Amino acid sequence: MFYRPNIDDHGLPHNPFKAIVSPRPIGWVSTLSKDGIANLAPYSFFNGIQDVPPMVMFSASGAKAGSDDLKDSLVNIQDTKEFCVNIVSDALKDAMNVTSEHYPHGIDEFEQAGLEKGIPQVIKTPFVAVSPAVFECTLHSIIPLPGNGHMILGQVVCVHIHDEHLKNGILDVTSYAPLARLGYRDYTSVHNVFSLNRPEKT
Ligand SMILES: Cc1cc2nc3c(=O)[nH]c(=O)nc-3n(C[C@H](O)[C@H](O)[C@H](O)COP(=O)(O)O)c2cc1C
Repeated sequence: MFYRPNIDDHGLPHNPFKAIVSPRPIGWVSTLSKDGIANLAPYSFFNGIQDVPPMVMFSASGAKAGSDDLKDSLVNIQDTKEFCVNIVSDALKDAMNVTSEHYPHGIDEFEQAGLEKGIPQVIKTPFVAVSPAVFECTLHSIIPLPGNGHMILGQVVCVHIHDEHLKNGILDVTSYAPLARLGYRDYTSVHNVFSLNRPEKT
């Protein structure tokens, strides 16, 4: 089959786009409102985009449910120019899910999910203390996307890793099983890893 988005009806019961672009890591984004209230929400249109200097992106699509307002994470980043990305372990999936609810602006999702706040080293935004790894980020730019979406680019200014996940200096992702988003209501988490050597240069 093929279809042209925005021209054809794909004819399937659900849009397959997110299932095709999978698995996607989940950026669990913490921010502060201009009044200093913390906010936390998951974003699976998230990725690292380069490593030196380290940079990340996530995209916020559309408005908050039932309103014309932009999503709180985006509004807060517009105001404060900073955010943290918290990595979601398999053990944190239920807490992550709680924070995806459309709470009114000014509700602290750390409190809703019963999550302790970690104290940032470089910026002011708190992070998820139990998250296996965290990036403190400063805003690089916001790119408007068609359809009222926004891509937020951040520069990583501090990296936190829980020492228990470092084995002989290597980050052992199987020790926390990072959660990733598939399509529909589906998720996966990483429990198995294999290595592949790059081709030798001749
Ligand atoms: C696993 C997961 C991934 C999500 N990814 C995105 C995403 O990439 N972009 C987006 O706009 N919303 C995404 N959402 C929905 C937001 O988390 C939700 O709209 C949330 O209420 C936004 O919160 P905020 O207004 O506090 O920023 C996702 C939800 C879940 C559960």
